[in-house]
Amino acid sequence: MDKSFPLTGWSSVAVHAGHEQDPNYAHLVPIYASSTFVFDEAEQGMRRFSGKEDGYIYSRWGNPTFTEAENKIAALETFELEKDGIPLEAKGILHASGMSAITTLLLSTLKPGDKILTHYSLYGGTEEIMSKVLPTLGISAIITDLRDLKKASAAIANDKAIKMLYIETPANPTIQCVDIEQLSKLAKENNLITACDNTFATPYLQQPFRFGIDFIVHSTTKFLNGHGTAIGGILLGSNLEFMKTKAYAMAKTLGGNANPFDAFLLITGMKTLELRMERHCSNAMEVAHFLENHAAVAKVNYTGLASHPDHLIAKKQMRHPGAMLSFELQGGLQAGINFMNKLKMCVRTVSLGTCDTLLSHPASMTHYSVPKEEKEKYGITDGLIRMNVGIENLQDIISDLDQALT
Ligand SMILES: Cc1ncc(COP(=O)(O)O)c(C=O)c1O
Repeated sequence: MDKSFPLTGWSSVAVHAGHEQDPNYAHLVPIYASSTFVFDEAEQGMRRFSGKEDGYIYSRWGNPTFTEAENKIAALETFELEKDGIPLEAKGILHASGMSAITTLLLSTLKPGDKILTHYSLYGGTEEIMSKVLPTLGISAIITDLRDLKKASAAIANDKAIKMLYIETPANPTIQCVDIEQLSKLAKENNLITACDNTFATPYLQQPFRFGIDFIVHSTTKFLNGHGTAIGGILLGSNLEFMKTKAYAMAKTLGGNANPFDAFLLITGMKTLELRMERHCSNAMEVAHFLENHAAVAKVNYTGLASHPDHLIAKKQMRHPGAMLSFELQGGLQAGINFMNKLKMCVRTVSLGTCDTLLSHPASMTHYSVPKEEKEKYGITDGLIRMNVGIENLQDIISDLDQALT
């Protein structure tokens, strides 16, 4: 593609951004299954190691297949955004998983004595790294309800050790949302680093950089890959210098690098992100309405419904409310188990972000061993079902749910 050609549409960027002409004229980026890269001469090795010449050295440090995925996601997260009148740029570092991207973020930005301000209902792995791993390094997290700006402000005012605001919106598993713009503004007024996990939304639905967020993390395992074929993650930052130096040095040292085959699957999946998200979201809205009117359902949690407490925040910062919803069955635990067992097309599993509709029952699966009072604090009741609404034809999703609910 001619680099001077402006890409003006979202899917044009998703399809073409990041792609470089292959030296052997392969149509698609090859899977560079090579752990190391050769030098023409010793002097070239010297130039590459000293940073005087760009080029690949060793795949833990970078690989051409990773580069295409990194540049594509960076282009999507910054699409149509500007800073001081010039197009915003970001740099991404692809990782083996969302968790490894989060680890690089936290360890490259924080030091002993620092604290993170965050909220309830983070993804379980993130919560664990903050509550179990970081304290061993002298870093801790303060959890408050960040949907209440007064509480956020009070927490920051009370503790000068807070250095980072970390948000996940919509959050896993409750789909709670926080106001990125307001929180980012508050954080900047207090010189805090800001980071947002954008996994549930994807850059198609929400661009945290638009609101001045410094770092974005994704579990690319989910909607970005879109087909459930690989675990992966990315850390993105708009401070290019920091990304190229501190973040890159930390990522290289920790060794949570991606692998070329998974990067290739991710690149392939991302080309259809807009099409998939449009369908996921329109199906989710219809499924939410169907469930809302079903006698066996006590409550539907979907930010697209005006009844959801975070409806207005989601509407303000997201293009559509997303593909994830949850609902509570009238009959509690046994009703949840019966419903899950009756599903015929929809799939019983715990992940999300795939083309097929996936359902899980936290009380009998992910949260089986969590004490009841603890579960209820997070809104996880016995009859709660979590759903990733897929891109199948709507009537088949609804028919399957209907027969399983009766
Ligand atoms: C919001 C969110 N962030 C991060 C992660 C961790 O990603 P991974 O499983 O790719 O390490 C997950 C995984 O489910 C997630 O849902």
